[in-house]
Amino acid sequence: MKILITGANGLVGRALVEHCSASGDEVFAYDHQALDIADPRSVDLEITAHRPEVVINCAAWTDVDGCETNPEKAEQVNALGPENLARASRKVGALLITISTDYVFDGKKSGFYTQDDQPRPISVYGRYKLEGEVRAREAHPRTIVVRTGYIFGPGGKNFLSNVVAWARRGQKIKAIRDYWGTPTYGCDLAVRLRELAALDLPGIYHVVSSGEGASFETFSVEALRLAGLSPEVLEVVDGDTLGRPAPRPRNSRLKCLLSDAVGLSSLPPWQDGLARFINRG
Ligand SMILES: NC(=O)c1ccc[n+]([C@@H]2O[C@H](COP(=O)([O-])OP(=O)(O)OC[C@H]3O[C@@H](n4cnc5c(N)ncnc54)[C@H](OP(=O)(O)O)[C@@H]3O)[C@@H](O)[C@H]2O)c1
Repeated sequence: MKILITGANGLVGRALVEHCSASGDEVFAYDHQALDIADPRSVDLEITAHRPEVVINCAAWTDVDGCETNPEKAEQVNALGPENLARASRKVGALLITISTDYVFDGKKSGFYTQDDQPRPISVYGRYKLEGEVRAREAHPRTIVVRTGYIFGPGGKNFLSNVVAWARRGQKIKAIRDYWGTPTYGCDLAVRLRELAALDLPGIYHVVSSGEGASFETFSVEALRLAGLSPEVLEVVDGDTLGRPAPRPRNSRLKCLLSDAVGLSSLPPWQDGLARFINRG
């Protein structure tokens, strides 16, 4: 496949570039510096120049607290960015896959969120990610939205990707016990993104590693166990004691109604992905 990837230097972008390149695809990888998805002219220029078959958008402003205090930037990148990509993809006849988030939900449900559940974002980040989904799908019917959450993997700057490295340095780690999601290994997500590109069936997919989900605390305990480290570095806290500017959904675990129906098997359990991540070193 001829694939153009944005946000190529992020957690998911890196894993996807690696996987697609290893699979023999012709890959046009753009990091933030090379292509700003908020700039419609540059997006149009680059996509028109390469005429890819598939555009996969891994770019986003993922600083949830930053978005809360700078909604203009959040809108530009997370809502208008996907729309810019959708318009240019439509122009060249490319499939667009854009990644969204479990934070489009309010977290009040007790079970797993499916595509039948009504998104009700409670943060600026969630609101504009949802707007990005809608704008992309309206601008280009051949759009696949992939909602995912609690991602970890090589190169990740977030909590889940770094808990083992921090523990190895003997750092004290505040692990939140009362916010739950479905941990997702970035490398397994990358494989699924490419499968979805080949399948070419537009819609909204919930893509997460399988399992019952985890809190930051239960994820951290498992990560340290797999790494052979003591859990004593963990200080278990309630999320609301951290004074973070943006509200987060307390439960944002996801399940997919579509994957089985289109013949996709479940991704490996997150504990399995976590073991592979830790063994990579
Ligand atoms: N990480 C999670 O737990 C999580 C959960 C749910 C959904 N998601 C979604 O998954 C997708 C991938 O996120 P990730 O985890 O890989 O995050 P990430 O590591 O923060 O990667 C995002 C990348 O996008 C780039 N970027 C930011 N603004 C941009 C712009 N205007 N134009 C082009 N590139 C831009 C960033 O570059 P700079 O850093 O140089 O700005 C970064 O390399 C995003 O859509 C995110 O919303 C992530």
